[in-house]
Amino acid sequence: CGIVAYIGYREACPIIIKGLRRLEYRGYDSAGIALLNGALNVYKKKGKVKELETFIAEKDTHATIGMGHTRWATHGEPNDTNAHPHYSTSERIAIIHNGIIENYAALKTHLQQQGHVFHSETDTEVFVNLIEEIQKQNQCTLEEAVRLALHEVVGAYAIVVLSRDEPNQLIAARKGSPLVIGIGQDEFFLASDATPIIEYTSDVVYVNDHEIAVIRNGKLDIRTREDIQQTPYIQKLELELDSIEKGGYEHFMLKEIFEQPKSILDSMRGRLELEAGHLNMGGIRSYEQKFVNAQRIIIVACGTSWHAGLVAEYLLEDLARIPVEVEYASEFRYRNPIITERDIVIAISQSGETADTLAAIELAKSKGATIFGICNVVGSSIARATDAGAYTHAGPEIGVASTKAFTAQVTVLTLLAMIVGHKRGTLSEPKLRELMVELSNIPTKVEQALALNTEIEQISEIFKDATNFLYLGRGYNFPVALEGALKLKEISYIHAEGYPAAEMKHGPIALIDENMPVVVIATKDSSYEKVVSNIQEVKARKGRIIAITTEGDTVIPQMAEFVIEVPATSEVLMPLVSVIPLQLLSYHIAVLRGCNVDQPRNLAKSVTVE
Ligand code: G6P
Repeated sequence: CGIVAYIGYREACPIIIKGLRRLEYRGYDSAGIALLNGALNVYKKKGKVKELETFIAEKDTHATIGMGHTRWATHGEPNDTNAHPHYSTSERIAIIHNGIIENYAALKTHLQQQGHVFHSETDTEVFVNLIEEIQKQNQCTLEEAVRLALHEVVGAYAIVVLSRDEPNQLIAARKGSPLVIGIGQDEFFLASDATPIIEYTSDVVYVNDHEIAVIRNGKLDIRTREDIQQTPYIQKLELELDSIEKGGYEHFMLKEIFEQPKSILDSMRGRLELEAGHLNMGGIRSYEQKFVNAQRIIIVACGTSWHAGLVAEYLLEDLARIPVEVEYASEFRYRNPIITERDIVIAISQSGETADTLAAIELAKSKGATIFGICNVVGSSIARATDAGAYTHAGPEIGVASTKAFTAQVTVLTLLAMIVGHKRGTLSEPKLRELMVELSNIPTKVEQALALNTEIEQISEIFKDATNFLYLGRGYNFPVALEGALKLKEISYIHAEGYPAAEMKHGPIALIDENMPVVVIATKDSSYEKVVSNIQEVKARKGRIIAITTEGDTVIPQMAEFVIEVPATSEVLMPLVSVIPLQLLSYHIAVLRGCNVDQPRNLAKSVTVE
């Protein structure tokens, strides 16, 4: 979910609506707004922010204080009633909430007994009624009631609360879900991330867990849940407004795919110094010895970041000879994992806010492991929860399907494996040098792969009506097959499976017939011959083969129906190149099917609930 709020001297409504549009990638099944101008009015609508805009066009939206929300449903289906903001029973207080209240059922029963009436199925409505009840019982200020309520709720939240009875004030709090405050001249902006704020101010304060922010009479006051006043730490945002707009592309996803030569370069900047012949990674400097001595590396992540983790498993085992395990963050934390102080846990996350990944970090921390984070969003919760880390510097990624964040993650992980391998003596000087040169050529090769766009669009036209897809790869290209399949299912709703090419014969081969498109990543590497045999197996069952090959390959074009040639590179770097045509293929298929590429159904960019 995305939250945004404003308090100052301007009209709040247009600022909030624009902010919600910027946050829409965080959830888009319903949206709502609350405005405080003597009265406390709440307007909400199922669907995208534009539905809300149409709905409020005729309403009185004049106010200089307000808040808005765009929702990704957890409790209750997406409809007008379940949309935020939620009123308390008396309609004197309203709340917006991102996160989940785990003990909502018990609280609800108790509140119902006290006479509170509920209209929605949400946990959020329980939260606001709890605040109201506490205020009534204690005859206290809203601030005090919020503070006491936070002691009673279990779960994760970022909230903003407004009250009709205290009209010059906005209260926010966070635990587990992100919240940023932008500080302008006599005005304040609150949001889940900095994108709604950047065009007004670059001075921001990131609210910490268990903190409550009160903005009253033009002043910001931050306190802990225990009511201890904090000094707000004001940071300068480095985000550029251009980077969060489409810049002439039809979709954010396409823009982000095409940004990859630059984003990969940015992720290496200052880290790969070819001329001086050395590698640098500020974030690991003081942890280098820990990496050298590590008995094991555990990688935790979700979604596309988990696929980057799989690539890293190959890289770190190959180059640094350290055993690696790659875990879905959500599974890792619930199976009593064995972790020691000699383990290093690497958490990978584009947003730096994924609740499952955050929870996995907390668990690993409690067992004494060293936590290294690889995040894209500067100042995000995961970046702050880790002992050390490296930012991917890919710039804001808005398209829900991750593209440039993936290649930036893989680049940073490659550098990490090279640095650690070199320090451990498992990666020789000449081999290191060779890889450095190859890595510095990757942006150009990605550029060449992007030049295949039109060709891939034509292939997409042929396969756009398929109902299933199989993606096969081996070695370094196996995670790429998984990522290709994920991209397709996320945005085109075609069922797709990624598989290790050889494992196909133990199951998925049964699915192959003349209607089944099979994308095989068959670049020249140590398993090339084996993959060629796998292609034969598919062909023998009349599967329709789309092969990703290395430029100049003369064998595979004789077997495959379509061949997409990518430039040659070192085997360990190939995922950075071979994933590009797969991103483009899913993009074009989704566009041709009329799907909403940037905001696919049911998904959200950053999942801040477990
Ligand atoms: C969501 C997004 C995916 C992303 C995953 C992990 O499911 O839709 O694109 O890969 O979360 O997100 P993270 O921000 O932790 O990389």
